[in-house]
Amino acid sequence: MTELNQQQLLDIVNTKHTAPGDARVRQLTARIVSDLFKTIDELDVSPDEFWKAVDWLNRLAQGGQVGLITAGLGFDRLLDIRMDEADQKAGRAAGTPRAIEGPLFVAGAPSFKVEARLDAGEPKGEVFVMEGQVLDTDGQPVAHAQMDVWHANEVGGYSHFFPGMQPYELRRHIETDAKGNYRFRSFLPPGYAIPPNSPTAELFTALGRHGNRPAHIHFLVVAPGLRTLTTQVNIPGDTYIDDDFAFATRDGLIIEIEKNVAPAGYESLGISEPFTRSRFNFVLQQALNDSEASPAARMARVTA
Ligand code: DHB
Ligand code: FE
Repeated sequence: MTELNQQQLLDIVNTKHTAPGDARVRQLTARIVSDLFKTIDELDVSPDEFWKAVDWLNRLAQGGQVGLITAGLGFDRLLDIRMDEADQKAGRAAGTPRAIEGPLFVAGAPSFKVEARLDAGEPKGEVFVMEGQVLDTDGQPVAHAQMDVWHANEVGGYSHFFPGMQPYELRRHIETDAKGNYRFRSFLPPGYAIPPNSPTAELFTALGRHGNRPAHIHFLVVAPGLRTLTTQVNIPGDTYIDDDFAFATRDGLIIEIEKNVAPAGYESLGISEPFTRSRFNFVLQQALNDSEASPAARMARVTA
């Protein structure tokens, strides 16, 4: 093998191939490798630092935490900002603001028509009902929209990721009625924090950052011909509402809370005492193509 300098090595790494491969993957890999070569050289990364990072990446992936890091480093929000910018540039009517999915969605939650209870048994917090309609950007109701809703438990844990919880606890799928109506009962969740003693926490400690998210509830709303909406709503008053480690809070997503609502009309949700309510409509954009109505990576998990 000939002697190589840095640039010669980079050129070989980025151009070497005997089969066409995938042009897009080759393009992206070449760019990322170039940027990392540059980082290592300009910041004088030592072998110890490099192998420590490799070990960290292995542990991060083994723990299934890559999606936590992407959110915490702003990548998930970046994708939303880019979609917002593209919409604005194209003059597309905006629907409900999008917000990151986060790494904790699980497909296949128990399915209900029009209304559901997310929690079970004794209330674990303030009895809460959220209700409203799914609409399109012309204000027309969306019949039989499919909604997934999920949130953390009373200590900030998500089922399927946090030990001791039931399968699909605090996760439901709801189909709206012909007028786009949905409603569900649960409790107001607290905020969330990244798992302590995890690779994710190691990085955030080293960065001098906290890993807290304000209280929030996740939604995925799907309907034929409309653009899939991934969003979250925030519960007002949380300490971290303007300091979310995942950068996912947005002005249009802070719900209004009504306390002491009379229980009449909510018997089917097992409510007989005054409770806390929020009304919120989800507005979906028209889909311009199939991938907006059913984004491939997203749908693979929805039907998993
Ligand atoms: C993360 C956790 C969440 O609950 C969420 O909504 C978004 C991100 C995270 O740990 O990265
Ligand atoms: Fe979350």
